[in-house]
Amino acid sequence: MSVESSCDETAVALVRDGRTVLADEIFSQVDIHALYGGVVPEIASRNHIEYIARLADSALGKAGAKRSDIDAVAVTYAPGLIGAVLVGVNFAKAAAFSLGVPLIPVHHIRGHIAANYIAYPELEPPFLCLVISGGHSLIVDVRDYTEMSIIGSTRDDAAGECFDKSARVMGLGYPGGAVLDALAQGGDKTKYPLPRARVEDFEFDMSFSGLKTAVVNLIHNAQQKGEEIDKASLAASLSSAVSDTLVPRTIRAAELLGREVIVAAGGVAANSVIRADLAREAAKHGRKIFFPPLSLCGDNAAMIGAQGYYEYLAGATSGMELNAFATMPVDTAHL
Ligand code: KG4
Ligand code: ZN
Repeated sequence: MSVESSCDETAVALVRDGRTVLADEIFSQVDIHALYGGVVPEIASRNHIEYIARLADSALGKAGAKRSDIDAVAVTYAPGLIGAVLVGVNFAKAAAFSLGVPLIPVHHIRGHIAANYIAYPELEPPFLCLVISGGHSLIVDVRDYTEMSIIGSTRDDAAGECFDKSARVMGLGYPGGAVLDALAQGGDKTKYPLPRARVEDFEFDMSFSGLKTAVVNLIHNAQQKGEEIDKASLAASLSSAVSDTLVPRTIRAAELLGREVIVAAGGVAANSVIRADLAREAAKHGRKIFFPPLSLCGDNAAMIGAQGYYEYLAGATSGMELNAFATMPVDTAHL
């Protein structure tokens, strides 16, 4: 059984041998938090408590499994909203203790990467991974299932934050990444010139806060002058600025490290401009590319079960002293 509760999705899954999903239950709290224009940590924690046991029961029901069929319990223990992560960790501890099975701590970002193992049975490390989510933008060299190093990361906002904040100011709701993506389809990506930042002396690091501010300023200036914004073209211009930051770095890192395979991961990997640009550039540079299916891009527990299986094989289980952590690099184990 695997458990995910690091942000605003409560999720429990049953995964066999890291690759076969028997049940994948998700309760998305997105509509609850949309009222506030962002995730309210305390409300997220309360809803996790409310739903987590019910989701575990319904996962067992959907898989036609009994509690005694559970061989181990994997759980996201970092990073995330600390109160939210703690709910999952404590539920998983109770489940593992009462069933007498191993408890497996899983790093959330490793889970996002592992979503691809579910979709692509033939996919194995090593590969170069672009992880883009609401809270993270990382280029990771995945040497093995549990051995990875960070090649580059954002110095400020994540790509998802940049999309979400821009979407909010454009009046597209929260989280607006997917809405903005749909809107961008009808836009002209050259209409609004937006910055593509570089981090001096660190060719694989990224920065999105200047881009976010540029979009916010552009909208405020237009409002002050009473001018109409062409939202579709602004969405297209923003998507292409984000993609222009992510894609060349990813390709270059794969070339430098000699990785033949590139993998995308995380909620923002659903973005159609990034997908198209990455697919085109990967093909141009003779690299194989894998994208998670849209259903596995966002937070879910199946991906935690997938990574949990490989953590278990590597011996990374924990006792009842397991704690939750708000932050933790993807390449270091805290245990
Ligand atoms: O991976 P995820 O569920 O959450 C974190 O672990 O942070 O990613 C959620 C993020 C949100 O910022 C959401 O707006 C963004 O993914 N997102 C998208 C798209 N679909 C979801 N961003 C751009 N284009 C999309 N199609
Ligand atoms: Zn996530």
